[in-house]
Amino acid sequence: MKLLIIGSGGREHAIGLALAKSPLVTGLYFAPGNPGTVGLGQNIEIPVTAFDQLAALVKQEAIDLTFVGPEVPLVAGIVDFFESQGLKIVGPNREAAQLEGSKAWSKGLMKRYGIPTANSGVFTDLDSALVYLHQKNTYPMVVKADGIAAGKGVVIAQSFTEAQEALQDCFINKVFSEAGSTVVIEDFLKGQEASILAFTDGHVILPMVAAQDHKQIFNDDKGPNTGGMGAYAPAPLVTPEIMQKTYDQVFLPLLNGFKTEGITYKGIVYAGLMIDENDISVVEFNARFGDPETQVVLPLLETDLALILSAIADETLAKLTLQWRSESAVCVVIASGGYPGTFEKHKTISGLASFTHRADLQIIHAGTQRTDSGEIVSDGGRVLGVVAMQPTLVEAITLAYEGVDQVYFDAMYYRTDIGQKALRG
Ligand code: AMP
Ligand code: GLY
Repeated sequence: MKLLIIGSGGREHAIGLALAKSPLVTGLYFAPGNPGTVGLGQNIEIPVTAFDQLAALVKQEAIDLTFVGPEVPLVAGIVDFFESQGLKIVGPNREAAQLEGSKAWSKGLMKRYGIPTANSGVFTDLDSALVYLHQKNTYPMVVKADGIAAGKGVVIAQSFTEAQEALQDCFINKVFSEAGSTVVIEDFLKGQEASILAFTDGHVILPMVAAQDHKQIFNDDKGPNTGGMGAYAPAPLVTPEIMQKTYDQVFLPLLNGFKTEGITYKGIVYAGLMIDENDISVVEFNARFGDPETQVVLPLLETDLALILSAIADETLAKLTLQWRSESAVCVVIASGGYPGTFEKHKTISGLASFTHRADLQIIHAGTQRTDSGEIVSDGGRVLGVVAMQPTLVEAITLAYEGVDQVYFDAMYYRTDIGQKALRG
């Protein structure tokens, strides 16, 4: 089976590594991929939203199945486009991808099917949003741009003034363009966050092991949010009881909701949960694998990922049960100093060669570039991920940081406390 993976981040490198292990896979293509995916297959320089060119590639190379990594092409309807051309693709179609593409739509669905989530209001103008804030008159409140805003569309407002500023950014200053023309205001949820991802073919939904992301830039979850500075799995915070609750109260009602509304959802569902004691609440849904969660979840998956993706495409997922390694995986993200603010690129990276051919310690490329002279240089905010897999979380953390010590580039930055949240209990 030949597969095309769409995307270019650490997530797509991790998906490629998982697929490369499969005896079913005879060829891997990445569009556009990154320097890390070069060793796994062929990188083809096509942007993720150039649907025509992507479909032409699939036809030309007789690729059997396409898997979509990022949300942007999903929300833009890549699945509808491929299916209209008779090409096999795994991911939610445009209608279904609203689960991530519109927070207002997603909240509406959650309310209709009784999925636990924060109380909220949806607004399309500043005045009525301000009236709502006055009525609520409690802080923090959370102000969210409706559409996709590259993880920057959420403000936890500590006061009326902060909430008002966030609303003005959306409605008046148009900071998020169309994505901010509708705004969701919701109650603040307290607790600890976990990410539970699941595979679905529209008939059954199979949860993966739970992971925990580290969104803030500094240790102890301080500083501004980033795309994710590290992750580990499984997350002990998600006890078997919480997992069961998530299945019963989130995944099953979601699947039934899709069925009732005639929505075809095939692919990955990502539930971002807030867990407070024994209560769960959905903070957000995404319509794709998480980054960096994928980097720690997929190494633990024993079942062949290519088999799972085929089963999703063929709607035969009910025939599979997922097998997981009883180990722990940790991913430490190495970023460019200054990220998530401004940072310099094109720093020469050394130490990458020491990672070849180790199953328990892998380097993941996220924001790197290969120069004409063959050097690997930094090319983004999040540059690399070091992923370690070990029998226990403590051992995985130790090995991951041993891996980090082997890598160097000028002004590199990483958190030194990835996974510690789990050890504190
Ligand atoms: P979202 O894009 O909806 O995932 O929001 C980004 C981040 O903001 C989440 O991962 C949480 O850390 C935080 N957040 C979003 N909504 C809430 C909420 N209602 N209560 C507390 N924190 C939230
Ligand atoms: N790690 C958060 C996300 O993928 O959205």
